Amino acid sequence: MSLSLCIFNTETKKRKLRGKKMVGSKDSRWSLHGMTALVTGGTKGIGHAIVEELAGLGASVHTCSRTESELDDCLLEWKAKGLRVTGSVCDVSDGAQRESLLNTVSSEFNGKLNILINNVGTNILKMVSDYTAEDVAFLTSTNFESAYNISVLAYPLLKASAAGSIVFISSIASTMPAYLAPIYGANKGALDQLARYLAYDWAGDNIRVNTVAPAVIKTPLAQRSFEGRKEKIETTICRTPIGRLGEPEEVSAMVAFLCLPAASYVTGQLINVDGGMTTNGIYFPQNKRSNTAVSGETARA
Ligand SMILES: NC(=O)c1ccc[n+]([C@@H]2O[C@H](COP(=O)([O-])OP(=O)(O)OC[C@H]3O[C@@H](n4cnc5c(N)ncnc54)[C@H](OP(=O)(O)O)[C@@H]3O)[C@@H](O)[C@H]2O)c1
Repeated sequence: MSLSLCIFNTETKKRKLRGKKMVGSKDSRWSLHGMTALVTGGTKGIGHAIVEELAGLGASVHTCSRTESELDDCLLEWKAKGLRVTGSVCDVSDGAQRESLLNTVSSEFNGKLNILINNVGTNILKMVSDYTAEDVAFLTSTNFESAYNISVLAYPLLKASAAGSIVFISSIASTMPAYLAPIYGANKGALDQLARYLAYDWAGDNIRVNTVAPAVIKTPLAQRSFEGRKEKIETTICRTPIGRLGEPEEVSAMVAFLCLPAASYVTGQLINVDGGMTTNGIYFPQNKRSNTAVSGETARA
């Protein structure tokens, strides 16, 4: 047998083994029991919903945020609900704090991590030429560098689990320009592409890497962006086939699916959770069915 054929056969055997290992009973494919997860930014909005979704499916979850009092309140709330969640204060844009976070996760989960959700992200609403160098550095370290560095720090733990999954929380602003979000959108575009590279690089270690890109979801971050801009909400709803804004649980459900053994053949994908907005349709009057009134002016636009 030629050397190349031999390598091909060995690779094929390895891949067959991997595939077999992931296809279990129906119950095991739709459960996260026995798995460990790190979710960044879990005290509010989408991150909070992801913590509850993963823990509700049986995972032991560690989360972090910068505000200790809010983190403590959330941990109490989760304990009362019977969910297995721990947490640490960490600013993910700070290198030393990231290392300390991953050390905590490693000792808590005995050196093995199944799931990493890079959820933290933020925006500063400005036109492209109005950003300062500090704004750009802050946004890029929070939205992109933190997720990249945490993924690299988590890599040995994900590999050790023999069934790892990373989900990046991006945004539809990574593929469609969004008003007052040029640096945020560019940071998210970089995340999308990083996820594809990691999917290639780490597939051999049984680590899958995917991206979820929400449209406007009702969270404190979105509330800040829409403050005093009623017309922006109306226009957004008008351009959304489903005719309303999204709920955090509608994002966390997709994130959880990607982490389940049921998604064992899904990697390197970007999935929009956007009520259909990225289909980019032109005029569909039935989209006005939401509870939020659409003004006559916007409807005619
Ligand atoms: N909401 C939307 O419409 C929407 C749309 C598309 C994409 N997304 C993306 O979804 C993700 C979550 O957004 P969200 O709307 O849920 O945001 P959010 O309501 O502002 O919540 C952000 C969470 O992350 C924590 N956090 C923020 N900066 C942090 C940092 N440097 N280090 C550690 N924790 C930090 C916050 O707690 P502390 O402030 O206490 O640290 C909070 O728990 C982001 O990546 C965002 O870009 C959101």
